Amino acid sequence: MLAIAGITLTVVVGVRAAQNPTLVPAAQPTAQGTTPSPQTTQPARPQYPRIDTSKMQLEAEPEHQKPDLPSWAYTPVTPPGKGRPRTPDDGALQHVPGSDKGYTRAQIGNGYNVPDWFPNLHPNPVPDAVLHGKPGLYQGCGLCHLPTGFGRPENISINGLPVGYIMQQFEDFKNDRRHSSVPNMALITMIPVAKNISPEEEKEAAEYFSKVKPTKYIRVVETDTVPKTRPNSRMLVPDEDGGTEPIGNRVIEVPENVELVEMRDSAVGFVAYVPKGSIKKGENIVQTGDHGRVAACVICHGPTLKGLGDIPPLAGRSPSPMARQIYDFKTGARHGTNASLMQGPVEKLTDTDIVNIVAYLASLDQ
Ligand code: HEC
Ligand code: HEC
Repeated sequence: MLAIAGITLTVVVGVRAAQNPTLVPAAQPTAQGTTPSPQTTQPARPQYPRIDTSKMQLEAEPEHQKPDLPSWAYTPVTPPGKGRPRTPDDGALQHVPGSDKGYTRAQIGNGYNVPDWFPNLHPNPVPDAVLHGKPGLYQGCGLCHLPTGFGRPENISINGLPVGYIMQQFEDFKNDRRHSSVPNMALITMIPVAKNISPEEEKEAAEYFSKVKPTKYIRVVETDTVPKTRPNSRMLVPDEDGGTEPIGNRVIEVPENVELVEMRDSAVGFVAYVPKGSIKKGENIVQTGDHGRVAACVICHGPTLKGLGDIPPLAGRSPSPMARQIYDFKTGARHGTNASLMQGPVEKLTDTDIVNIVAYLASLDQ
């Protein structure tokens, strides 16, 4: 059941049996960048078990896999040896502008004691699930989504989402109803979190993130030309060799400051380059359904796109994860309890529609 501002919709969806008993609890997502492994020279550091998650996605739902979806939305894993060189941890404390905290490089990547550069940007106290997780079972949410819940392009923002929506997504991840259409996306790291967290910890984390006030962290720029980019840590970064290229039919989302984003600085946002004219075209689809060609998104996501009841907000959120969700609804890889409401709206959307829609949505104030 899904409550929309007082109206209750009963959503009938075939419940699929959990298909993959081989999805094992994971403690430490592997080398591919979402969570750089917390290696350190400090001997006192506890060693937590590691479980290889690399095959989970492939095993999970082959029928929905579409490896050819746009790589700007499904940024691939950095090829071996092609990542930005990481400065080895020499035990020195690192700092980011505006914060009086200091963390070593190893501490910055520790999912069991997540760096919290700006405690003033979120409510306090922060639940354990967010900053510490449970060693051996799941890492703290803040490692990937940041303690502010702003998230990064390879995951998704979760601040200001309705508690009921967050809890439903956990149900869907737990019951193998939410996967990615493209193998080995970062989404595989969320599944063990949902499977291993206790109901109490889940509720605390959901209530916490729903209370973090979203602030604008995406700067949308319409342009014909973008910096050349390459995948790094599952997000696009400007190529160190420089150069530009035509934007084409893409959204190119890069950190405002790569070094600070690598330090998990939660005060740094992203710039999203979008094609010229896309915001206006997106507005037409979102507000009017392109005059009836498709469903108008505002009907369910609210007149200001800030959500309605348990239906999630879309305004101002990062464009690449939003596009990924639209494709995952389209392919059926995301088929949670309430996903059937999205199947009609996304069915006729073209690649260009999706670029225009997310350009417009990301440009809105949160
Ligand atoms: C290891 C990284 C990682 C950790 C730790 C993690 N998540 Fe996630 N989370 C992800 C990724 C990746 C996605 C999926 C993005 C996508 O669909 O492409 C996700 C998706 C979600 C979603 C769905 C949001 C939406 O708008 O649909 C919610 C809610 C969520 N996470 C909450 C949490 C909470 C709460 C915790 C801590 C208890 C947590 N996550 C821990 C990586 C992580
Ligand atoms: C009939 C109601 C309805 C309409 C119309 C609708 N949506 Fe949704 N949308 C939903 C529901 C319900 C969810 C949550 C689905 C779930 O729980 O899996 C959702 C989820 C989403 C998400 C995922 C958000 C997240 O945090 O993961 C995106 C993106 C989205 N919708 C975009 C759109 C766009 C773009 C349109 C218009 C083309 C649209 N929606 C029209 C009901 C609707």
